[in-house]
Amino acid sequence: MQDLIDQLRRIVGDTNVFTHDDPEADLGAWEQDWRKRTRGRALAVVRPGSTRQVAEVVQACAAAGTSIVPQGGNTGLVVGSIPNDSGTQVVLSLQRMSAVRNVDPGNSTITVEAGCILQNLQDAAEKAGFLFPLSLGAEGSCTIGGNLATNAGGTQVVRYGNARELCLGVEVVTAQGEIWDGLSGLRKDNTGYDLRDLFIGSEGTLGIITAATVKLFPQPAAQLTAWAPVASLDDAVKLLVLAHQRLGAGLTGFEVMGQFALSLVDKHYPQLRVPMWKDAPWCVLLENSDSESEDHARSQFESLLEAALEQGLVSDAVVAENIAQAHNLWHVRESITLAQAEEGLNIKHDISIPVSRIPEFVRQTDAALAAAIPGVRFVNFGHLGDGNLHYNIQAPAEGDPKAFLREQEEHVNTIVYDAVQQFDGSISAEHGVGELKRHKLVKHKSPVALSMMRAIKTALDPQGLMNPGRVL
Ligand code: FAD
Ligand code: MLT
Ligand code: ZN
Repeated sequence: MQDLIDQLRRIVGDTNVFTHDDPEADLGAWEQDWRKRTRGRALAVVRPGSTRQVAEVVQACAAAGTSIVPQGGNTGLVVGSIPNDSGTQVVLSLQRMSAVRNVDPGNSTITVEAGCILQNLQDAAEKAGFLFPLSLGAEGSCTIGGNLATNAGGTQVVRYGNARELCLGVEVVTAQGEIWDGLSGLRKDNTGYDLRDLFIGSEGTLGIITAATVKLFPQPAAQLTAWAPVASLDDAVKLLVLAHQRLGAGLTGFEVMGQFALSLVDKHYPQLRVPMWKDAPWCVLLENSDSESEDHARSQFESLLEAALEQGLVSDAVVAENIAQAHNLWHVRESITLAQAEEGLNIKHDISIPVSRIPEFVRQTDAALAAAIPGVRFVNFGHLGDGNLHYNIQAPAEGDPKAFLREQEEHVNTIVYDAVQQFDGSISAEHGVGELKRHKLVKHKSPVALSMMRAIKTALDPQGLMNPGRVL
């Protein structure tokens, strides 16, 4: 293995290879998953500075039969971006490849390297007079490469789609170390199989995304945010339908948050002053982005909320008066994940169900879990506009949370995922499969689909060196 390490050092330079043999090096940040559930041990962490270097690193690893774990911001929630505990894998970090290569205003596109932090990409788009709408709580540290590798969703999907829909082209280093320049800015290209879409959502198992060309959009003239308690998920779904009717393409966000989830934000971040969370079992956050003017946005929003009041869907609501207030509302929503982590160990689910069936799914699954686990607590929130719920379970207040997880996690997952299947849903809406849901995928995905996936994996990565043990 020393030969491989020496070779990696020659390719990327001594200061960009880290191993456990170096007493000064701390590999923790690359080896520990975001949720701090799992820690791996790498043979080495390598940080190439160019696509050519990525290709040479992959060639060296392929020649040595060493597997590679691509890593961006390491914010993934399904244990996909850290090495396993064998001490034999190379973590290939894209951290140094963060440049904006090109903005093409006429084509409304931007081309960036894969390690570009999402927030920096949003800022570069804004500087060029555009909007890059992909938005999620981890945007300050996740990378566009990781977003594409997981086909991330976030809070603007209801209007702009997920990462796949925002991407026009990718540059990839294949498992053999070849470079594929697929950085097309084309909106139409029917010349055979869509290779770009194979790599999007492949979670590092087919190759390494080194750059991407993504779509830019006009910045809205005004953006308004509202917050409303609702008595039930049925009412939340009716409000969503009404919001689609009244706001049309202006509806850019529709999030739902359960009372216990908000109580955790209130408990751990009291300075955020969570509005109206005690008033109802659910609160809804809506965003209206308007291409005309603030007055137009406000009058549209007001007429939507009046109609909702008349129909008895809401009894009260606040509309943010300024950008600071709007940011605070979003901050509350995006702090749920952190508050939940502060509260302690939990079981996370990232599921999608046809929107219309979500209320019945939650009623039925809550009842099944409450019957199976006395004292079970639900941290329920998510992107209702996309039919995507984070249907999470917090260990009961009493007792040892570690023992709860050990004894109940598999049981809880079986109850939830069996219900998801019964409701024609998916066991992963936006976070991916990683290592955590691999065994569940085998149970819940069609055998025909799985066999096509395995054929693709074998064709593109015959040595099985790209992020083995993840997805499949
Ligand atoms: P990593 O965690 O480093 O990697 C994720 C996966 O992609 C791994 O399998 C890795 O091997 C692979 N990978 C990374 N970079 C590359 C590359 N260049 N080429 C090939 N494979 C690669 N996700 C959502 O979808 N919606 C949300 O709203 C959302 N909110 C979040 C909020 C918080 C607070 C946190 C911690 C996470 C959230 N996530 C969300 C999950 C996570 O942020 C996203 O999945 C994100 O897209 C991962 O990007 P990353 O750069 O951190 O990737
Ligand atoms: C979110 O919507 O906040 C994220 O997907 C993170 C999570 O599920 O915790
Ligand atoms: Zn989410």
